[in-house]
Amino acid sequence: ETVSAEGLYVLPGAIDSHVHFRDPGYPHKETWKTGSAAAACGGVTTVFDMPNTNPPTGTLEALAMKLKAAESSYVDFGIHALFDDSTVATLIDLLDGGATSFKAFVGNTFGNLPAPSDGALLEGFETLAPLGIRTTVHAENSSIMARRQKHLRDAGRTDPLAHLAARPAVAEIEAIGRIITLAEWTGARVHIAHHSAADSLYLLREAKRRGVDVTAETCPQYLLLNTVNMLDLGGLLRVNPPVREPRHNEPLWRALLDGVIDMIATDHAPHAPEEKTRDDIWECDCGFPGVETQMPLMLTEINGGRAAITDYVRWSAEAPARAWGLQGIKGVIAPGAHADIVLVDMGRSENLSQYRLQSIGKISPWHDRQVKGCPLHTMVRGRFVVRDGELLEHTAGWGQSIKPVQRMPPARVAHPDTTTRAITEPGAAEREAR
Ligand code: DOR
Ligand code: ZN
Ligand code: ZN
Repeated sequence: ETVSAEGLYVLPGAIDSHVHFRDPGYPHKETWKTGSAAAACGGVTTVFDMPNTNPPTGTLEALAMKLKAAESSYVDFGIHALFDDSTVATLIDLLDGGATSFKAFVGNTFGNLPAPSDGALLEGFETLAPLGIRTTVHAENSSIMARRQKHLRDAGRTDPLAHLAARPAVAEIEAIGRIITLAEWTGARVHIAHHSAADSLYLLREAKRRGVDVTAETCPQYLLLNTVNMLDLGGLLRVNPPVREPRHNEPLWRALLDGVIDMIATDHAPHAPEEKTRDDIWECDCGFPGVETQMPLMLTEINGGRAAITDYVRWSAEAPARAWGLQGIKGVIAPGAHADIVLVDMGRSENLSQYRLQSIGKISPWHDRQVKGCPLHTMVRGRFVVRDGELLEHTAGWGQSIKPVQRMPPARVAHPDTTTRAITEPGAAEREAR
């Protein structure tokens, strides 16, 4: 198994912290096999799968089903288990059962999982802080959005921009502020999913300056698309959070360059084409595939001079490896690291086609977009899974859980007045003061 790397760049395989492979539950949208094939072809060698499957990944049984489904994966994987009021008392059991991390749907989205209460968030963060485990948060305020959406529907709005009106940036800003407050108080590690708004960047910047271990991702759609595209694409571009007004694009790029946003993820959220193209915007499922198109889209921007290729490697591989406890093992090319490697041709131009996607959700806002810079060969732990752009189908199942190599260092200490201490040691602070 040899390939020539002449003229190619050697990069660490991308780590995508945010994919929905839909398995178990929605095999007409995606399966582990098709989703991970899409990842492999996109130069992504590790993915973290989201828990809004059916059943949701919030019980040991559901977790076992997901790990079973993931046995067909081409790429390595972590499992974000569900963090809500129904699971908060069993988070440690879920970790013992093979979960690597958690996802809290603080904003409502596909699957209609109820948002965790603020009480459950505080409690769960107190549980996870001493373990150093990071919780990803879909940060949008569900109460704001439910009222807005009801008013818009009652008023008969079914146009594409009604979706944005229902999920205004303030819903995201409010939720991010709340999550940072709880993370700072407890010392818990948190991760802000699909950061989309310019207005909440100051919250991240200030929290990081204070030493809160908050990481954040944004996605190609928030960097490269906006409401102008929404007018053309309609429900096909419906996604949560929505793509925002054009003024948000540039600040997100600057935040990546400044390290305020740490990484690129995709929120790979495939749906069947007919679920994306209904006349009524409210009936179009939210999200679209992304794990396969992230690298060519971003490398096109690197070719255009927006950032250096070393910046891209930081966003696609190094930062997620650090955030999820894979530092030095994945996301780098170094002695002792896994040989998770992608060979990219920075000079290769392509016209992206939704019909050539490995994903079952063969409908994409990136269809017909011209890109320059493409992954050609992908290697997972020393073995090619894609060669010359061709998926090597006999390597299905080569992917493994990252759980055995994950090492989360201890988190920073919590605020001294935590409620857990008040429960287990009543009057401790008062006794010390006397
Ligand atoms: O647009 C979205 N789709 N946003 C999410 O947060 C979830 C995702 C999905 O699972 O379809
Ligand atoms: Zn989300
Ligand atoms: Zn998502």
